[in-house]
Amino acid sequence: MPRTIYYTATSLDGFIATDDHDLGWLLSRKSGEDGPLDYAAFIADVGAICMGANTYEWIHRHSHPADGTQPEPWPYEQPCWVFTHHDLRPWPGADVRPTSGPVEAVHAEMTAAAGGRDLWVVGGGDLAGQFLDAGLLDEVVVNIAPVTLGSGKPLLPRHAELRLIETVRSGEFVAARFEVVR
Ligand SMILES: NC(=O)c1ccc[n+]([C@@H]2O[C@H](COP(=O)([O-])OP(=O)(O)OC[C@H]3O[C@@H](n4cnc5c(N)ncnc54)[C@H](OP(=O)(O)O)[C@@H]3O)[C@@H](O)[C@H]2O)c1
Repeated sequence: MPRTIYYTATSLDGFIATDDHDLGWLLSRKSGEDGPLDYAAFIADVGAICMGANTYEWIHRHSHPADGTQPEPWPYEQPCWVFTHHDLRPWPGADVRPTSGPVEAVHAEMTAAAGGRDLWVVGGGDLAGQFLDAGLLDEVVVNIAPVTLGSGKPLLPRHAELRLIETVRSGEFVAARFEVVR
């Protein structure tokens, strides 16, 4: 059965970005390249992706040089639904599908597009929470960085009951896979 997975990195105190959307605390650290939770193995099984508008904006901002030179390519091969109430900055050639939900309808579209592969909820935390609220989230996979931020964008601002499936050391990170208890 394809799974809907919230796969992300978090600070030890449960934030996925600082208040001003900085990820320096994350990108400055090395994760492992293999092991049961490694990214390459994970993404190979993903058939559709979704994210919120601020996550899309972060990727856009960090892939398009301010001096107008050639942007980096969109990083995903899979179709990507971006939840927003606004017009997104365009990314020519990227299969980006703006949507304003609801998550149930988008989940059905993603499942149809994924061809039996898993669905990845990239974030942010509230969007993952919307899938949880709808009973559509199967797993939470977190790569925990050895840092606390004190405040920031929350990992999953909900009460969620989870069952620990697997842990592994991944470079500087602890990676943990949880199943959502329904
Ligand atoms: N640590 C990691 O691995 C990791 C992973 C993912 C993201 N991040 C970072 O974490 C931060 C996440 O930002 P965030 O918490 O603000 O979350 P976000 O989900 O990226 O963006 C939130 C926005 O998404 C839109 N949205 C969410 N649900 C919607 C719905 N049902 N219908 C329509 N629009 C919806 C709204 O945009 P509108 O303003 O258009 O209404 C909302 O303001 C970003 O900086 C991102 O780069 C980190």
